[in-house]
Amino acid sequence: MTYRVRSAEQRRAEIQERAAAMGIDDAFIAHLVDTFYTRVRAHERLGPIFAGAIEDWDEHLPKMKDFWSSVAMSTGRYSGKPVLAHQKLSGAAQEDFAVWLGLFEQTVHDLAPSPDVIPYFMERAQRIAESLKLAMFTLPSLRKSSEP
Ligand code: HEM
Repeated sequence: MTYRVRSAEQRRAEIQERAAAMGIDDAFIAHLVDTFYTRVRAHERLGPIFAGAIEDWDEHLPKMKDFWSSVAMSTGRYSGKPVLAHQKLSGAAQEDFAVWLGLFEQTVHDLAPSPDVIPYFMERAQRIAESLKLAMFTLPSLRKSSEP
């Protein structure tokens, strides 16, 4: 068996080529993030959770554009700590993640420049949602149950 060893730079270039071929660019990401959070803020369940935690949307939206450009196009623009940001959230329940993902999928579906963009974003969103849920709900309760 032969292995192809690629540098981080080559991997990044491949991701960027793949994303560009699907029509993913800064303009699409900006439109996706703006539309998604407009819908989040109007949502019966999610709206109040975000309203209670975010004071300055002019700060949150550019951060989320950097996040998705890093996730989808490997731009390296985002360098925050999503786990910590969600661990301090009160008012979000485990079931809300399915609602978040449903609304995100609908938005990606409505705006996607090509059909492949839908699974491309959803696989990544689901994977990150799982790790956030683990940090918010599973790990704290494991820790509690191991306390003397
Ligand atoms: C029910 C589900 C979710 C809720 C209620 C929620 C809520 C929030 C809130 C209120 C903030 C702002 C926190 C702050 O500024 O202190 C935030 C930040 C953020 N969220 Fe979520 N979120 C959810 C799911 C997700 C998912 C699934 C992802 C990724 C796929 C995500 C990615 C992020 C990122 C990257 C930040 C910025 C963290 C930072 O660097 O400050 N969130 N979220």
